[in-house]
Amino acid sequence: MNRTIMNFSALAGLGVLLLAATPARAGINWDAVSGKEVVLFYPGQSSYEWALTGSSMSGADDFRKGKDCATCHVGEEKDMGPQIVTGKPRVFKSGEKPSIEPAPIANKPGSIAATVKTANDGTNIYVHVDFNEGAQPNAGQAKEFATTVSVMFNNGKVSEANRAGCWAACHEDSAGMPAANGADRSMYLPKTRAKITRQGGGDTLAAPDKIAGLKADGYQLEFWQAELNPGQPAKAATQIVFDKQEEVKNVVTAQATQKGGVWSVTISRPLNPGAPFTAIAPGNNYFVALAIHAGHTAERFHYVSFERSLTLNSGAADLIAVKQ
Ligand code: HEC
Repeated sequence: MNRTIMNFSALAGLGVLLLAATPARAGINWDAVSGKEVVLFYPGQSSYEWALTGSSMSGADDFRKGKDCATCHVGEEKDMGPQIVTGKPRVFKSGEKPSIEPAPIANKPGSIAATVKTANDGTNIYVHVDFNEGAQPNAGQAKEFATTVSVMFNNGKVSEANRAGCWAACHEDSAGMPAANGADRSMYLPKTRAKITRQGGGDTLAAPDKIAGLKADGYQLEFWQAELNPGQPAKAATQIVFDKQEEVKNVVTAQATQKGGVWSVTISRPLNPGAPFTAIAPGNNYFVALAIHAGHTAERFHYVSFERSLTLNSGAADLIAVKQ
């Protein structure tokens, strides 16, 4: 959090645990930015293909007709996560549905409510996330980090993610999903595959000219990550998802403090870090979604949010990265 830069000595003097790593160029006064609640929930094995199948997820037909996931589900996350995370059959007004979590982690909370603030200073964009991850059992999957916060940034060119957020990258045959059959396949975007079936897209890519066209068009998601351990500086990482999820040259910074169980995390990225990253400019609409891995979890054992629209300075979006 950039506030910590300005107040470095003051905070240190107060004995506040300071985990700030690389100082960003400017300090954002977060007290002057209004926050939006974004609830993340535990999604189990709900893949893109699962969500597009009416017998698995009854909103599938309406989604195909044009209704976005968020339209039906934002506001329900605090009910969805807790019943998915138990690994038990799920109960709805319309009846019971089978479990979508075959490997439940005992006593894991089902959702995390975050407060999100966004800002820019003409050079960088900042995403500030406050959340209490609750009492997290140690799953022992991720050894290096207790908690990871990821901002999934969609420049608007990934039409599937414009409507379905993270699910556009999460497939039935990705690692740990029902049709993976032991494969270590990472996240990928639908159009990079020759064909998508109920079992996912497999490893057969679309024709080379189509792949080249998608690349040229900016069809990719950026992941801006903060990797956190209590009492240590946050570590930043950048990934791109196209035909696979790849760690790339890091262009983001991450700062975090933890106080009274609440993590305050600020992730910043230059508005224009150069290719292959999107140049973020006023007047355009982008999308972000959040993922949090808590309790030393990895891969799909995370919390996710539905997509939120984002724009710089002013406009009609869920999140306005206000100018400071
Ligand atoms: C028209 C409204 C509608 C749309 C659009 C919709 N859903 Fe659903 N979704 C539902 C309903 C209703 C349920 C309850 C279970 C059922 O009937 O299948 C549900 C269940 C779910 C669940 C399980 C919740 C639980 O408590 O177990 C997940 C996860 C989910 N949807 C994800 C998605 C995703 C991802 C999309 C977009 C690709 C989406 N939904 C689009 C209506 C919708």
